[in-house]
Amino acid sequence: MTTSSDRPPLPRTTTGARAPLPLTLLPRAPLLLALLALALLLLLAGCAPGAIGTVFQEPRAAGATPESLAPPGSAELGPADPAPAPAPAPPSDEPAIDLAAHSITDPTSPWVVVNKGRPLDPAFEPDLTTVRGYLVQPAAAPDLTALLAAADADGVHLTLRSAYRAYAKQAQVYEGWVAQLGAAEADKVSARPGHSEHQTGLGVDVGSSTQAGCDFEKCFGETVEGRWVAEHAAAFGFVVRYTPQNSAVTGYAAEAWHLRWVGRELAAYMRDTGVTTLEEVFDVPGGGYAR
Ligand code: DAL
Ligand code: ZN
Repeated sequence: MTTSSDRPPLPRTTTGARAPLPLTLLPRAPLLLALLALALLLLLAGCAPGAIGTVFQEPRAAGATPESLAPPGSAELGPADPAPAPAPAPPSDEPAIDLAAHSITDPTSPWVVVNKGRPLDPAFEPDLTTVRGYLVQPAAAPDLTALLAAADADGVHLTLRSAYRAYAKQAQVYEGWVAQLGAAEADKVSARPGHSEHQTGLGVDVGSSTQAGCDFEKCFGETVEGRWVAEHAAAFGFVVRYTPQNSAVTGYAAEAWHLRWVGRELAAYMRDTGVTTLEEVFDVPGGGYAR
């Protein structure tokens, strides 16, 4: 039996380095070459693009789409790729308000919308309290009191000319206008019974202490009291309900003296947005009577 120690020692050069392999080792060369080629192949495969960390994927059925491979019901979940984060909403100048916070049909609500198409129950009578001798809903009283006091403090002395009017009283007022102007013209300046904000106890008519002759007249808007009201009413929760610009929506000619209490939040919203009618705020019809 031959062992490595039985082999003759390799010949050395004169420098002591080993000489090239003798020809007797050459038969092993194909095996070495094969091993070298295999190592090269493995190296190339390992460096192929995408190989590192590549997850082996199930092959798709022919013609299959990503949706048809998704489990039932997963389509609503959207694509698997994470959606890009939504862009932040641009800052808005529009004041925030919850327009569903109060009813627009309940006649005790500060936001009730009463117009030619939205009548009140003839029998409706609100709870009432008195401000300077006039009846209003209790919810409106503090703001009305504050408004009158603030005007006084500014040296502007408003008078109250009308506030709550019962259904029967409104009927008298309206008929008076019909007798004076005829029905068509009366409908522009006076509500038919059941259609007046005065029946809710949320509407008031203010007057001028310096030019009383302008009360209930167009010139009221030019009085010192009329100008004060136009500028300050919203701060106390009131809106000038009927203006020259919104007649087509409200169904009435302008009344610079008719204030409607809606509360400070909505009044500020309407002032800041420039939306002057409750019909537009709440997207409900205004305009004329059906007949
Ligand atoms: N003048 C208003 C429209 C009313 O009669 O209620
Ligand atoms: Zn009025």
